Amino acid sequence: MGKRFIWAAVALLGLGWGLRAAETVPAAELQPGDTLRVLAIGNSFSMDAVEQNLHELGAADGVVLIVGDMYIGGCSLERHYNNARGDIADYEYCKVFADGSKVRRPKTTLAYALADEPWDCVSFQQVSQESGRYDSFLPYLPELMKYVRARVPAGAKFYWHQTWAYEGGVVHDGFANYDRSQSKMYNAIMEASERVCREYGLTVIPSGTAIQNLRGTAVGNDNVTRDGFHLNNTVGRYTAACTWYEALTGRNVLGNRYTVAYISPEQVPAAQSAAHEAVRKPFARTDLGIARPEANYDESRIPPYTLPDPLTFADGKKVLTPEQWMARRRPELLKLFETEMYGKAPGRPEKLHFKLLKRNDNAFGGKAVLKEVGIYFTDNESQYIRLLVLTPKAAKGPVPAFLGINFMGNHAISTNEEITMIGRDEYARFGRYEEYPRGENARRWPVEMILDRGYGLATFFRSDIDPDWDDSFVNGVHRLFYKNGKLHPEDDEWGTVAAWAWGLSRALDYLETDADVDGTKVAVLGHSRLGKAALWAGATDPRFAMVVSNCSGCGGAAISRRAVGETVRVINNSFPHWFCGNFKKYNDNEGFLPFDQHELLALIAPRPLCVASATQDAWADPAGEKLAADEARKVYDFLGAGDRVQYHTREGGHDIVAYDWNYYLDFADRFVR
Ligand code: GCU
Repeated sequence: MGKRFIWAAVALLGLGWGLRAAETVPAAELQPGDTLRVLAIGNSFSMDAVEQNLHELGAADGVVLIVGDMYIGGCSLERHYNNARGDIADYEYCKVFADGSKVRRPKTTLAYALADEPWDCVSFQQVSQESGRYDSFLPYLPELMKYVRARVPAGAKFYWHQTWAYEGGVVHDGFANYDRSQSKMYNAIMEASERVCREYGLTVIPSGTAIQNLRGTAVGNDNVTRDGFHLNNTVGRYTAACTWYEALTGRNVLGNRYTVAYISPEQVPAAQSAAHEAVRKPFARTDLGIARPEANYDESRIPPYTLPDPLTFADGKKVLTPEQWMARRRPELLKLFETEMYGKAPGRPEKLHFKLLKRNDNAFGGKAVLKEVGIYFTDNESQYIRLLVLTPKAAKGPVPAFLGINFMGNHAISTNEEITMIGRDEYARFGRYEEYPRGENARRWPVEMILDRGYGLATFFRSDIDPDWDDSFVNGVHRLFYKNGKLHPEDDEWGTVAAWAWGLSRALDYLETDADVDGTKVAVLGHSRLGKAALWAGATDPRFAMVVSNCSGCGGAAISRRAVGETVRVINNSFPHWFCGNFKKYNDNEGFLPFDQHELLALIAPRPLCVASATQDAWADPAGEKLAADEARKVYDFLGAGDRVQYHTREGGHDIVAYDWNYYLDFADRFVR
């Protein structure tokens, strides 16, 4: 208690000294109307933390923050020190003025920035990979502090910006310093930052702990960075700014009304409390108690609900004829799904083009023709689909084919070394390094069985379209299509699931041109999250001749209103990037959805549709998937195609195995061949 009081008093004095004479010294904290001038001497980690959101948090709270960031990518204390000594103009100086406007000044020296404002606060930090190694701070930090001290107002207060640990699996050689372990890195940063603050009288800005606090919650687990180490533009950067705000101003950030776009409603309070608790306890994680709500699996506890009737128009009139369904009701429903759930995608790009990257007419021991095709969306060829196309060599003409996205890369669907292995360099284009060994996912792709049955198989890696984490859409295809300087999709624009579905349509664009494939007989298939994408692709693109949903669950074939297993709220918080911004309105509010998932299935009618569950896959709500298929069948019946929607369950868990494929192949034999 007493200790904390002294610490607070010292902190306040520091702030007080920093203020210009004309302003009143804050009593307990900064007061509305006060101005605080903050300079970070940093790198990309200070850029993440202070260049956006920090000023705005102040503006929403009546406090003016003038912020400077002395930025050099990957800059270490040693380099800052050398820059100071040599007066080297190497910095990009980002300055946020009192009115919130921002200017970047290239080729700036430390001396220039230090003289630019009567700074109240100056922060120091180490390059991230060395931030858990105290020895690397010396002798540079104290020397740098002396240099700065001589150039700022006497009362200026010095801070240590505690940086955050990387995510597991990140591409960063420096991660080896911590045996590639996030918790090791975090612990090392804690030890080093605590010690440096103690020994040099610095006050900590605990961004590292705030991020770690957030990571421990249901809304932050894998959702804070854009590439494994830099914070994403949504909740990641917001959390760091909240931490700076409270650490610098002493003002409670909880309830601050400033928020950022495309962030889920539960992430805002989570980010604020992650920051708030970190300022209270800077060197150890706090459990914020934001756990996933317990899932319900008990049929008797399902809240009462009424399923919307697909055969009734939004205005209450009945759909009377198949023509009315096709011409009016189907488009009406499709539009609702598009704006409220999956988000609008851009359509077929004008500059779409293909390149044959590899061809082997004698692959799989003479069984297959193997092609790898690059599918490019614009002139920017850095983002593309590498589509693997396998067709039976024995075929006499174009074959029907299955198209599906894979989780781990094309090389993971088979142990066959003829398929190009995604190398380290190739992975770099996905923004994060996740290495999957060859053949890792082969169990799910019975390639030879598919070929033997006379079908082709086409597949691509999900990250080709959009890497699967909440990077605030800085990697992936979204950035190719932003208009008017936008940096993220609007609330009714495509999330990741819609982007994957869009990618499936682009793959079909190619398959229509492949002489070995019958483009009118392509079945789109997907498991789990990729099953959600397959369903949306089938709904939006009537060229798909058949659709397969394997264990697609919540946001796929399962009825949302049942809220069994995974719910809308849970999926939106665990995977904020999957569905569009508008979908977040339905967290714990499924009854207000203007549709339910049986109507998504109905959008595929009368084309053949297989919905499959596994008995132990309770998370995906098998009974809810069956119900959706049964309800969709009413539309199929209405269109005279009742036998074209099929439901099956397999004994076992969340997976797609040869048993399932066999079933899909049989189904395709009946309706597509
Ligand atoms: C998670 C998620 C599901 C998803 C699944 C998968 O379990 O909650 O919605 O279907 O991952 O893609 O395997």
